[in-house]
Amino acid sequence: MAHLQAAAVKKIHEICDRYAEEKTPLMMILSDIQKEYGYIPLEVQELVSERTGVSVAEIYGVVTFYSFFSLTPKGKYVIGVCLGTACYVKGAQQVLDKFSEIIGIKAGETSKDGLFTLDALRCIGACGIAPAVTINGKVYPKLTVDAVPKIVAEYKAMEANNQ
Ligand code: FES
Repeated sequence: MAHLQAAAVKKIHEICDRYAEEKTPLMMILSDIQKEYGYIPLEVQELVSERTGVSVAEIYGVVTFYSFFSLTPKGKYVIGVCLGTACYVKGAQQVLDKFSEIIGIKAGETSKDGLFTLDALRCIGACGIAPAVTINGKVYPKLTVDAVPKIVAEYKAMEANNQ
C-alpha cells in the first residue's frame, strides 16, 4: 500500500465515505473505484477494507466474481464477447477466437500496447441480437467472424488519428 500516492488514498477514502450511510455500500464503492481508476488492485482492496470494515476476502470475492471489475489495468478499448447460450449457438466462440487471433491475446488479457482488452461475458441481456459484442459499452449486434477484422482496424485507425 506504501506505493499508493497520497492523492489516490485520499480519493479512495472519499469514495468510501460517499456511501457511509448505505446499508450495503460495497458494490457502489467498488463501482466508483473501477470507473475512476479502471481496475481495483489488492492494495486498493486493503484500503477499502480498512476504511469500511469489510474483510479483504469479501472484497476480493466481489471483485473477482463480477466481470465488470478488474484486478489489473484494462486496455483503452474493452471488447466484451457474450458467450451466453443464445450467442454461443450463433457462433460467439468463433467471433471471440477471431478477435483473439487478430489482436494476439486470449480472453481476459490486455494487449501489450494497452489498446485492447478481450473479455468473455455471460449473457448481457441482448439475446435477440446474438451474437452480441460490446466495445466500451457500444453494442455490435449479430456480429460475424468476417466483420471482426474491419472493426479492429477501425479502432486502430481511430487511435492512429488521435496521435
Ligand atoms: S446470450 Fe448473449 S446476450 Fe444473451
